[in-house]
Amino acid sequence: MQQLPLSDLEAIERRHVLPTYARLPVSVASGSDVWLHTVDGRRILDLLCGLGVTSLGHSHPAVTEAIVAQAGTLLHTSNLMHLTGPVKLAQRLSQSSLGGGVFFTNSGAEANEAAIKLARRHKRGGEILTVHEGFHGRTYGALSATPQEAKQEPFAPLVPGFRAVPNTTEAIVGAIHDGTAAVLLETIKGESGVLPLDPELLAAVRDACDAHEALLIFDEVQTGVGRTGRLWSYQATGVTPDAITVAKALANGLPIGALITAPHLYETFQAGDHGSTFAGGPVAAAAAHAVLDVVDDERFLARVNDAGERFRTGLTAIPGVVGARGSGLMLGVELDPDVVARHGSTAAIAATLLDEHDVWVNAPRPTTLRLLPPLTILDEQIDDGVARIAAALAA
Ligand SMILES: Cc1ncc(COP(=O)(O)O)c(C=O)c1O
Repeated sequence: MQQLPLSDLEAIERRHVLPTYARLPVSVASGSDVWLHTVDGRRILDLLCGLGVTSLGHSHPAVTEAIVAQAGTLLHTSNLMHLTGPVKLAQRLSQSSLGGGVFFTNSGAEANEAAIKLARRHKRGGEILTVHEGFHGRTYGALSATPQEAKQEPFAPLVPGFRAVPNTTEAIVGAIHDGTAAVLLETIKGESGVLPLDPELLAAVRDACDAHEALLIFDEVQTGVGRTGRLWSYQATGVTPDAITVAKALANGLPIGALITAPHLYETFQAGDHGSTFAGGPVAAAAAHAVLDVVDDERFLARVNDAGERFRTGLTAIPGVVGARGSGLMLGVELDPDVVARHGSTAAIAATLLDEHDVWVNAPRPTTLRLLPPLTILDEQIDDGVARIAAALAA
């Protein structure tokens, strides 16, 4: 299909695409490695990876090859049939994490929907506990678990049985009781600005969950698949949850998500309890195998940590940057409020980075830039990114 310039696309969108997205002013034609190529010939350094999805970079040859091979063999049949690729993927996900069962989905929100249903199956009518500034998706169950006024309020009434508490050990532990079905948390809150939860808090919540037979579920939709320098971020916390949800980077861009449980939850769902037509189809599963072939490797993950360290060192040396938090290549860059004020806002800085310095990052908090660069990023590309951010902040 002929690629259209930005002005033509905007004209069509104004009439035919529901305006749910505040789109950036670029028309993207293709992607390769860390680069996005626009229709008008620009080359943009992609330090956000489609919001944490294309972690192996664009057009990764092994992923493309796996997709093409599977697409020429079988695109779809049904979850009512046995299929080797998806079944072996479930085995791989389970064996690399909690050791129980896997339910495939098409997205992060759907993985959380599955987790919420699992929790209610575990404890009928039980309450689901979440924390302020958490983000778990936009479908009704996931939205009900996302206690952000601006996202929830227009869509009330939400699903009953959810309760949100502040991010303190006292508040979370104090809210867990015998009627709690599950606590749903991100180990590092991504959409709210790369905010890590303290491992001691997580350990206390684990103990309280055990005391009240509540499930501890970690949403690893953004933190999973190597993003934080471990295959799953919980592996660095010393706390083992009862289930994790994953999606985003699992197939480097094809839609797939999963709920992965511990062995004791293997029989919580029975046939007919949950389902999805497309979920865990053979093409997405083939892509996910190709991703795990690369990412599930100690040397690769060590390199992610080294790359994260190089980014942090470079970023914190920039005048106007007061800190860089996060793990691996999940980075929240904290800016001096005076520098932000000089530029108008952090969103304005992100816009300048895109428009004038051809680099894509975003601004999840008033003083935070978020970077989710490809896990395959090279040292010179890191240095290039740091230099572009420095130039934008200096302007
Ligand atoms: C932690 C977390 N959970 C869930 C979601 C929702 O995932 P999806 O957009 O694939 O539904 C996101 C998306 O940003 C996320 O970051």
